[in-house]
Amino acid sequence: MADKRIGVGFIGAGEISVLHGIALREIPNARLIGLWNRTPDRAAKRAKEELCKRYETAEDVVKDPAVDAVVINTNQETHLKYARLAMEAGKHVLVEKPLATTVADVEEMKAIAERTGVLCVPGHNMIHEESITRAHRIIENGDLGKIVSCYVMYNIQHSEERASTLPGVVRHIFTHNLYTMMYLTGSKPVRVQGFKANRHYGKIDKEDITLVNLELENGALGHICSSFAADDLAPAPWTYTARVIGLGGTTHYTYGDWVEVKKGISHSHTYTAYQATITNEDQYFVNLCLYGGTPLSTLDDAIWCQKTTEALEKSIAEGITANVR
Ligand SMILES: NC(=O)c1ccc[n+]([C@@H]2O[C@H](COP(=O)([O-])OP(=O)(O)OC[C@H]3O[C@@H](n4cnc5c(N)ncnc54)[C@H](O)[C@@H]3O)[C@@H](O)[C@H]2O)c1
Repeated sequence: MADKRIGVGFIGAGEISVLHGIALREIPNARLIGLWNRTPDRAAKRAKEELCKRYETAEDVVKDPAVDAVVINTNQETHLKYARLAMEAGKHVLVEKPLATTVADVEEMKAIAERTGVLCVPGHNMIHEESITRAHRIIENGDLGKIVSCYVMYNIQHSEERASTLPGVVRHIFTHNLYTMMYLTGSKPVRVQGFKANRHYGKIDKEDITLVNLELENGALGHICSSFAADDLAPAPWTYTARVIGLGGTTHYTYGDWVEVKKGISHSHTYTAYQATITNEDQYFVNLCLYGGTPLSTLDDAIWCQKTTEALEKSIAEGITANVR
């Protein structure tokens, strides 16, 4: 497929499709061919905005010979269904995070990708931010020495209206922080202990904050905060922060370096690099489709994220420290 432009289709055209749409307009060797969304009004609106085709069914997306790859942007419960549809039709897929709702579903995605020979790449976008990639490189080089601890913190208030369409933060945000920790430390969690609470929502019965301690396979310890409850308004805020401390040094990344004081689509305020994480991710995916290579984060990472999320839910429900296996 060298020297070709990748034709991309969207299955699902909700909020995250807006970021993928912007990304594809910036990527020279890709173009958005068309999209399908379950609700026709939304499909029509988004197709008009993107100046692309609007398909009547998800099957029509994957049947179109102009479509080489599909971005699965639907709710997490339907990711496997649509990823399977696209892969069985011979199309590469980028599947939004979290990959699925169960470990078995992600394992099935992996089996289908192996059988059909197409790419199935997790939508683990936060690690496509250049500063995070650079931090990963220096850690991998051993510049920080033996890793002691890793912190990934997310504190961005979301309205109750937006949160009502999403799962709680354990399922919606924790995955982001977890794959970032796994990528930075090069290690996966083996034990977790977590808590969750609802401090902001009045009507909906979901957690808006979870705090988690993790023991990593390499012996280091991790701490994750995923919160839609409140913005951190401190001078050096933990709006989105990733920090790794080693015996030989520390690396630190923060939204604060990139903040834009304007409202995001559903974020109380946003930052330049968030769009860049999606643009860089989509460019990386397109290059994988064209030239091959290895994803920054694999389906095995996605499986471990799902296992850890389930262990965290067990820890919260039973008030115990849960093993990840
Ligand atoms: N990578 C990121 O930073 C990021 C950010 C936000 C959302 N996401 C992920 O993107 C996906 C979509 O989230 P969103 O923010 O666009 O949400 P949204 O509520 O704006 O859109 C949800 C989408 O799912 C579709 N949908 C819902 N139920 C469906 C069903 N039963 N069958 C087919 N389609 C169905 C809707 O039509 C819509 O296209 C989710 O997996 C979410 O976790 C990722």
